[in-house]
Amino acid sequence: MASTRLADRTVLVTGAGSGIGRETTIRCAEAGATVIATDVDSNGGQETVSMVQEADPDGVVEFEKLDVTNRERFGEVADGTADQYGLDCVVNNAGTGHPPANVEDVSDGTFDYVVDVNLRGVWNGCQATLPHLKAGDGDAAIVNVSSLAGFLGFPKQSVYSLTKGAVLNFSRAVAAEAGPAGVRCNAVCPGFTDTPLGRQYFETKGDPEKAMEKAARQYPLKRLGEPEEIAEPILFLLSEEASWISGHGLVVDGGFSIT
Ligand code: NAI
Repeated sequence: MASTRLADRTVLVTGAGSGIGRETTIRCAEAGATVIATDVDSNGGQETVSMVQEADPDGVVEFEKLDVTNRERFGEVADGTADQYGLDCVVNNAGTGHPPANVEDVSDGTFDYVVDVNLRGVWNGCQATLPHLKAGDGDAAIVNVSSLAGFLGFPKQSVYSLTKGAVLNFSRAVAAEAGPAGVRCNAVCPGFTDTPLGRQYFETKGDPEKAMEKAARQYPLKRLGEPEEIAEPILFLLSEEASWISGHGLVVDGGFSIT
């Protein structure tokens, strides 16, 4: 039987065309939500929509092309969603990485791009949607996707870490500010997850498969995460079950950070 955890909820997901965002979209639809799946990549986004329809013909999902760095477009998508369906939940998931490099070797272009997508994208997502979430039924939720890099120090991942640390603390600030209006805001902090972005990191190593196996051995559970293992905690934080959780950074990392 399909779950009804998110019945009557409308969820907007960014970066829904791949990896964690795709899995989150599929699972939100299966849980009864109307999902507005957005991505800068139309092919990936449409593919996600097809996957939802295949998995659950009753699932309601629409694709909107959205580059999260574009504040005006984010506003259009948020306003359009709110007008048509109401808007209850937002998953600011879209993100990007960068090739490993020491701080002094990171180009201005890389810095600007990663900050724009990972940081301004989440900012835009909150700024564009908060007026609608605050005007709702007092039970709205935002989940921002941070990372283990949001609070641990990984060498040669400086710009990524800078943005993910900011996303984590920004989520706390939003929780404090918007809580009185009935909006919860949390972050998830995933460890290495097997997605195109996760694999991109290992492709910078000589033997990517070997590098992935080596990384997996550093996890108490001896493996990397799967996108659905991040999507489920995101759903939890969006749902009623997390009604007293706000301003939290939920670490989802197979135990990596406790070793
Ligand atoms: P992915 O590469 O599979 O998916 C990212 C999606 O974001 C893609 O569909 C891409 O088109 C979209 N995107 C990129 N720039 C965009 C923009 N400007 N506007 C709209 N969409 C854009 O990556 P994955 O792994 O699913 O990443 C999702 C989130 O999880 C990211 O924020 C990432 O930093 C975070 N994360 C991922 C980890 C991993 O090991 N895979 C670990 C920790 C955090």
